[in-house]
Amino acid sequence: MKGIVLAGGLGSRLYPLTKITNKHLLPIYKKPMIYYPIQMLVDAGIRDIMIVTGGRNAGDFLRLIGNGKEFGISGIHYTYQEGEGGIAEALGLTEEFAEGRKVVVVLGDNLLQKGIRAGVEHFRKQKAGARIFLKEVEHPWEYGIAEIRGKRIKRIIEKPKRPPSNLAVIGVYMFPPDVFQIVRRLKPSARGELEITDVNNAYVRRGRMEYEIVDGWWMDAGENHEALLRANVVVGREEGALD
Ligand code: DAU
Repeated sequence: MKGIVLAGGLGSRLYPLTKITNKHLLPIYKKPMIYYPIQMLVDAGIRDIMIVTGGRNAGDFLRLIGNGKEFGISGIHYTYQEGEGGIAEALGLTEEFAEGRKVVVVLGDNLLQKGIRAGVEHFRKQKAGARIFLKEVEHPWEYGIAEIRGKRIKRIIEKPKRPPSNLAVIGVYMFPPDVFQIVRRLKPSARGELEITDVNNAYVRRGRMEYEIVDGWWMDAGENHEALLRANVVVGREEGALD
C-alpha cells in the first residue's frame, strides 16, 4: 500500500498567512501542519509516501522534510502540481508512484485524533472498491456530504446548499488501483477543478464504496483562520499546553 499527502493549492482562504508560505507549512502547535498527515501514514504502517505540492514555496517542503528521516522512513517522494486544478488532479499526478498498488490519500491539512491505523487495516482486508471516512459536522455546507440510504451511501454532494445529512466526507481516501482510470475520465466542475467527490461517486455508483464513522475528533485545519486557531488549541491541549 502506498501513501499520498496532497499539499498543493494556494491556500488563499488563509491570506495573508499564505502570502509568503504554503498553507501546509504553517504551525500547528510545535510542528508544521504537513507533519501530522505524514506521521499518521507512518503510524498506520505506510512507509512509501509521496507528497504532492505546488505554488511558489514547493522547495521549502524538501528543505523541511528532506528524506523523511525524522519520521523514521528511509526516503520520501515529491511531485509538483502546476496551478490548482483540484484534489483529484493532484491525485492523478501520483499514478506512476502508485505502481498499481492500493493508495491511501490524506489531505495535507487534515488532522485526526486517533489516526488511521484501524481504517488502513480494514482497507487492507477489503476485497474490492474504495473506502472513505465520515464525521458529523456542524456546518455541512462546507464539506463533501454523504447522503445515506439504509446502510449504504446513496451519493456524495460537494458543499451542498441543502445538506441531506451532517456526515462530512473527511480528507482521507482509500482507493484501489483503478482510481487512476477514473481520474483520467473526470471533467472539471463548475469551479474548474477535478473533484475528489466525483471520484468517490464513481465508486458509490458501482456499489463499491465502503465507509466508517470516525472515532475521536477530526479537523480540517486549513479551512479558515478560525479552524487553524482551533487546531492549534486542540493539539496544544492534548500535549499539555495551556493548562
Ligand atoms: O477536508 C475535507 C474536505 O476537503 C472534503 O469534505 C471535501 O469533499 C473536499 O473537497 C475538500 O474540501 P476543501 O474545500 O477543504 O478542499 P481544499 O480546496 O481546501 O483542499 C484541501 C487540500 O487538498 C489542500 O490542503 C491541499 C489539497 N489540494 C487542493 C487543491 C484544490 C491539492 O493538493 N491540490 C489542489 O488543486
